[in-house]
Amino acid sequence: MLKNKIALVTGASSGIGRAIALVLAREGAKLTLSDLNIELVNETRELISAQGGESIAVKSDVGNAKACHDLVKLTVEQFGKVDIACNCAGIGGPSALTADYSLTAWEQVIRTNLSGVFYGMQAQIAAMMLQGSGSIINIASVLGVVGTPRSPAYVAAKHGVIGLTQTAAWEYGTSGLRINAVGPGYIETPLERSLVTSASAHDALLAAHALGRLGQPKEVAELVAWLASDRASFVTGAFYPVDGGYLAK
Ligand SMILES: NC(=O)c1ccc[n+]([C@@H]2O[C@H](COP(=O)([O-])OP(=O)(O)OC[C@H]3O[C@@H](n4cnc5c(N)ncnc54)[C@H](O)[C@@H]3O)[C@@H](O)[C@H]2O)c1
Repeated sequence: MLKNKIALVTGASSGIGRAIALVLAREGAKLTLSDLNIELVNETRELISAQGGESIAVKSDVGNAKACHDLVKLTVEQFGKVDIACNCAGIGGPSALTADYSLTAWEQVIRTNLSGVFYGMQAQIAAMMLQGSGSIINIASVLGVVGTPRSPAYVAAKHGVIGLTQTAAWEYGTSGLRINAVGPGYIETPLERSLVTSASAHDALLAAHALGRLGQPKEVAELVAWLASDRASFVTGAFYPVDGGYLAK
C-alpha cells in the first residue's frame, strides 16, 4: 500500500508512534524516525530492520522549530522526498484543575502538543508543496473534541491540533496535499499508564469505551496507514476517532 513512499514519524520511540512506524514500514514505506529518546528510537529502527524495512533514526525535539525544519531537510537529503508525515510526539502533562494548573506545565504541554505540530507542519508543507503531493496525519485525541477534568493544557492543545489540521487542509488542498487528524481513545501506552494511577480509575476508563477495553497502539496505526495511502485520496480536513466508541455516548 505504501511502496516507494517516504514517511516521517515523530514520537517514534514509544507507544502509538512506534506502532505507526512499524505499520508504515510493513506497508513498504521507508522512514525517518524521530524522538527525543535516541536509544528507544534506535530500537524502533532495529525492529523495522528485523521486518526487512529501511529507516533512519534521529534525535529531534518537536518543540524546536529549527529542529523540525532540519528533520524534513535530512529526510529529503536521505530519501529524496517526504510523502507522508505523522506528527505523533506528545506528552500528557500533570493532572490539576484549570485554576491551579502551573504555568510551566501549561507552556510545556502547549509547546510539545500544539506548537510541535505547527512547527512540524510548516516544514512538512514546504517540502510537500515542492513535490505537489503529500499526506500529513496529526495525532490529536478524543480530547480534541470533548473536555475532561484536570487536563486543561492537553485538551486545549488537542482541540488546537484539529483546528490547525482543518485550516491547513483548506489552504493546501488544491496543491495536492491531504491533511487529516486522528483521535485515539485511551490506548495502552506508557503515556496512558502514567495518567491512570488507580484500579478504580482504570475500571472507569474501560467503561468509558463502548468496546469495554482500551485500545492497542497498532489499532491506531492501521488507520494512519490508510490515511497516509492513496486509498484515502478524497479524504482531507477530516478528524477520525479510533476510540472504541468513546465519543459515541
Ligand atoms: N495513549 C493514549 O491513550 C492516547 C490517547 C489519545 C492521543 N494520544 C496521543 O498519541 C501520541 C503518542 O502518545 P503515546 O500514548 O504513544 O505516548 P508515549 O509516551 O508512549 O510516546 C510519546 C513519544 O513522544 C516523545 N516525545 C515527547 N516529547 C517530545 C518532544 N518534545 N520531541 C520529540 N519527541 C517527544 C516521547 O519521547 C515518546 O517517545 C501523543 O500525541 C498523545 O497525546 C495518546
